[in-house]
Amino acid sequence: MTQLPVIIDTDPGLDDALALIIALRSPELDVVGVTTVAGNIGLSTTTRNAGRMLALLGRSDIKVVSGAAEPLRRPHLDAAEIHGGDGIGGVALPEPAAAPAGTDAVGYLRDELEKRPAGSLRIMALGPLTNIAHLILEHPETAARAESIVAMGGAVRDRGNVTAAAEFNVWADPEAYDVVLRSGLPFVLAPLDVTRKVLATPDWSGRLDAVGGPLAEVAAQMIRAYLANIEAMRTAKGFPEAERKATGFPLHDPCVMLHALAPELFSIERLPLRIVCDRSDADGATVIDPASTFFADVMTGVKSDEALALAFDRLSRG
Ligand code: BDR
Ligand code: CA
Repeated sequence: MTQLPVIIDTDPGLDDALALIIALRSPELDVVGVTTVAGNIGLSTTTRNAGRMLALLGRSDIKVVSGAAEPLRRPHLDAAEIHGGDGIGGVALPEPAAAPAGTDAVGYLRDELEKRPAGSLRIMALGPLTNIAHLILEHPETAARAESIVAMGGAVRDRGNVTAAAEFNVWADPEAYDVVLRSGLPFVLAPLDVTRKVLATPDWSGRLDAVGGPLAEVAAQMIRAYLANIEAMRTAKGFPEAERKATGFPLHDPCVMLHALAPELFSIERLPLRIVCDRSDADGATVIDPASTFFADVMTGVKSDEALALAFDRLSRG
């Protein structure tokens, strides 16, 4: 089998953790390394969580390299209400078996892109795009060697999940998304429009639990932790009304892996986009703008049942 080499840039994060399990239980993917970014929680915690997940998966041979602690031009704002103060909903995990391999995620990405054939290494981006934007700004020719950047982020026709307009990863660092979009590199987006349709319900996580095994159990605990945190936020002021009605855990970040494993499950539209970075009420929006000359391949449809079945299969590979 030809494996797709990938580097996962991530901010674990409950759904990031599920995405890591799916990636590491998919022989179709060769996970070369993991880079971390501040997002759902601060950088030291996302880095620790990446190491903890690799320890759980028995893959501490994979390097973790930390990156940006702050967005390009803004302070870091986290999503601890949803992911918990430890970023993984209080779920028990082993400690990292190895210290992070470094703190220069951009240099690590540069080196891995330089030493492989151009067009072979995919960057799977599961958090704010700060590290990837730095790579493009500092090493544009090297960044262009990526096969593609496939990112979870945005809400193109759907509502946002932080504000009415903005999805978290874009909202957290819109300038970084803008840099990546304008770079002209192959840029594939998994927005809320599809990730909300890949919904892990309490019943679904119950079936995972029934499978048993350490990974399925951790995955089920993480889904329950997310649902409990959302429940606690239902009455919170400022939490978007629509999010309060959530009946399951949208498998946001796993969609990036599911797309790599089974692209036929997703329909893609090449759309002209504009990222709103003006600190208005629409800040962080990913707007379809016919006047824009910057395009992304946007996942706008998904075969939900098949995508969930694929996620279930990989999460239950003990
Ligand atoms: C995205 O934001 C984060 O909270 C999740 O990990 C996911 O990457 C969903 O909006
Ligand atoms: Ca994430």
